[in-house]
Amino acid sequence: MRPVLAFDVYGTLIDTQGVTIELEHRLAEPHKAAEFARRWRDKQLEYSFRHGLMGAYVPFSECTREALTFIDRALQTGLSENDRDHLMAVYAELPAFDDVLPALDQLREAGIRCVAFSNGTADAVSTLLRRADIESHMDDVISVDEVKRFKPDPAVYGYLRARLETRPEQTWLISSNPFDVIGATYVGLRSAWVRRSSDAPFDPWGIEPDMTVTDLEALASRLINSG
Ligand code: LAC
Repeated sequence: MRPVLAFDVYGTLIDTQGVTIELEHRLAEPHKAAEFARRWRDKQLEYSFRHGLMGAYVPFSECTREALTFIDRALQTGLSENDRDHLMAVYAELPAFDDVLPALDQLREAGIRCVAFSNGTADAVSTLLRRADIESHMDDVISVDEVKRFKPDPAVYGYLRARLETRPEQTWLISSNPFDVIGATYVGLRSAWVRRSSDAPFDPWGIEPDMTVTDLEALASRLINSG
């Protein structure tokens, strides 16, 4: 059965490193930029989990903005509202990783359907992918916003399958985020962990991905050669 691939967006297709470079320009203490970027991302995800658990859904960009304000307070970096607006704008137009376009082209030439599947709203993700020149290389953009839950709520993976009209065993979640990989695997989907950094750890839950790859070109050749 031909696989259908659902790609996570932030960190999997889109390189969030650009935020660190911008922070280096904006912070009075540029050496805090890497820590700021890492904690911002962690807090953004924590806020998505908490909003989801409380049943207090907000668009993912709100989690991102709330997290930005929190980390500014926590690190006492004194960003102005203008700085925060600018950082949010940078977040909305980050580039794709270099391997994304060639991998999508190879997969789609092999007849494999590829969609983006994100916590971000469909509008935000479509704009991001368009600016990164990959929207036209995707078959669809599917957002959790339709079900007002966040990854890794089982409802969002169920919604993904309903939208794709696929069986669990042909539906692949491709993500660099272990929590996303585990969420999809737990409800019976196939999964590939994109381990972009060789020292990235995986959660020791005993729930493993079907495949671990270093980038999307490696994923494309494994899937095309196996099928
Ligand atoms: C996403 C976040 C989780 O794109 O990376 O869904």
